[in-house]
Amino acid sequence: MLVTQQKTLRKFWYALMPMTKLDEGPQPFRLLGEDIVVWKGADGKPAALRDRCCHRTAKLSKGFVENGNIVCGYHGWTYDCSGACVRIPQAPDSKIPAGAQVQSYRCQEKYGYVWVALDEPLQPIPDFPEESDPAYRRILQFYEKWNTSPLRVMENSFDNSHFSFVHKANFGMIDNPVPSKYEFRPNDWGFEAETHVPIRNPPASYRITGTTDPVTERHLVNRWYLPFSRRFGCMYPASGRHHIIYNCATPIDDKSLMLVQWLYRNDSEEDCSAQELIDWDRPITDEDRDILEATDYDACVDTRRRVEFHMESDKPGLLMRRMLMDLFTREGESEAFRPVIEIQPVE
Ligand code: FES
Ligand code: CO
Repeated sequence: MLVTQQKTLRKFWYALMPMTKLDEGPQPFRLLGEDIVVWKGADGKPAALRDRCCHRTAKLSKGFVENGNIVCGYHGWTYDCSGACVRIPQAPDSKIPAGAQVQSYRCQEKYGYVWVALDEPLQPIPDFPEESDPAYRRILQFYEKWNTSPLRVMENSFDNSHFSFVHKANFGMIDNPVPSKYEFRPNDWGFEAETHVPIRNPPASYRITGTTDPVTERHLVNRWYLPFSRRFGCMYPASGRHHIIYNCATPIDDKSLMLVQWLYRNDSEEDCSAQELIDWDRPITDEDRDILEATDYDACVDTRRRVEFHMESDKPGLLMRRMLMDLFTREGESEAFRPVIEIQPVE
């Protein structure tokens, strides 16, 4: 699947960046191959426009914010949050030409992030119930570009077979490679998958898991939200601690994505500090990234193409592929993919 070619993917909300980044001024972001600029308007809410001035095409993200409007850094044409040009400094007494306008996008703040939808969304931003539950604190963990496919990031997070290998230096148990099975509860816009997984619990993770047992259990209630968001709902029955991660694999272009990851914990900063929690998940996330960047970015959703083999633990990924393919079909689309390039023998 080439994400920039699938028009249906434009009809979803994506987390672009932490709201705090807007305090540094206008920010560029490439979403599904489209260059946009995001900034904070006069009301403190985020706004998004195409990152292209309608005068001489300069990127508006090179400009600055003035009274909640964005000012082009080239000649100062100024645009409001709807994309209308409201000021041409060189001709203060002339009427602004009709059509002097830059395309705007739907934009809102949620969970501390700026979210944008390029076209009319099929679904609202998913509801993450921990946000409004006072039992939890929210910790922003990672915001970084990965050179891989967002579908593979989603699939990987439901793939119980990779722990023993990718995370063998960490919580994975290489001598216990047979994966736990999930119980699935599909819904219209994704699924919930529940399982119990034993993990290694070395002293370095005692404050994360809240237990000193050498091996402990994770009770996982994970969710996938079409197309590229997921909940890793990890509960440690031994301590009652919750480690609930939300990930958005926001597609930048066909080969890369922005990994947006935050965490909810139901313990206190004294139990386990935000920095300890970031330091704990850092190598795990790096291990996933390293292997995912070594896969083909063109993750296939049409399983009839038979370009990959599967095993039992790929079931969540296969369900994602099927639901994506069904959605594309409903929207009148087929899968766009990279042509297979034959390797020519050297003469
Ligand atoms: Fe933007 Fe001229 S290019 S004002
Ligand atoms: Co992993």
